[in-house]
Amino acid sequence: MTEKELMLTSILDCDRTALYAEPLNLSAEQQAKLSQMQERRSADEPLQYILGSTDFMGVKINVDSRVLIPRPETELLVENILQFAHRYATSELRILDIGTGSGNIPIALAKGLPTARVFSLDISAEALSVARENSRQNNVAQQIDFVQVDFFEFVENYRELENHFDIIVSNPPYIATAALAGLPADVKKEPVLALDGGEDGLRFYRTLLANAKRFLKPGGYLACEIGEGQKEALTGLLDQNGYHHFVFCNDLAGKPRFFTAQV
Ligand SMILES: C[S@@+](CC[C@H](N)C(=O)[O-])C[C@H]1O[C@@H](n2cnc3c(N)ncnc32)[C@H](O)[C@@H]1O
Repeated sequence: MTEKELMLTSILDCDRTALYAEPLNLSAEQQAKLSQMQERRSADEPLQYILGSTDFMGVKINVDSRVLIPRPETELLVENILQFAHRYATSELRILDIGTGSGNIPIALAKGLPTARVFSLDISAEALSVARENSRQNNVAQQIDFVQVDFFEFVENYRELENHFDIIVSNPPYIATAALAGLPADVKKEPVLALDGGEDGLRFYRTLLANAKRFLKPGGYLACEIGEGQKEALTGLLDQNGYHHFVFCNDLAGKPRFFTAQV
């Protein structure tokens, strides 16, 4: 669908075919809404913020400027975890999600794995309130604990959760600080907290790989999205931290997009 069609189907609450079934007769109010949406878009606001939601693995996720817009690439990461979970012999899966944002990952996992319990953390109270509301709207709130904590403090202070999780998943901020200025104008409207991966983009992975094993049960699974050009550095970090069984998986454009490791 074109952006205009997406705006119209959202305003009229209809599907695309209905737009063409008969000549469109917008009320003055609907016309005003459309013009407002088009103005916001010409000011580089992301289309999903204007529409108020996006689809992630067939689930409706509400989004606004408090959260990163879930990307289709992240669906591949979640599909991989679902495949692992269906092979893994434990009935009550415990999952840790680091940097939850809109809640897209824990919600899709909770829907796909009805016996799973997800501990979802984010440093942003604003993002967590979006995530909580999304979990309620998708009827999985009872499977997810949303916790506001800085990940770098979490690894120091949550010792009681060591050896606790079957799966750790993360789509951390992974853009190098200096590259933020060169991002497309609409991406720059997303929270910088969700994008900034530190000087070389690897700040989160360093701490994650140094600590994930402590929080995973033996045989547990780690799955992380990565940025473009990070495979080589991450291979080094995985080796250095004693991960012996790891795999990089490509996205649909053939670029390495996430890695998984089993401990
Ligand atoms: C790339 S976004 C991922 C959002 C969502 N999981 C997704 O896949 O679309 C990274 C998330 O990490 C959070 N974050 C950034 N720094 C953090 C920190 N120090 N501790 C915990 N979460 C953090 C951001 O607020 C943001 O929601």
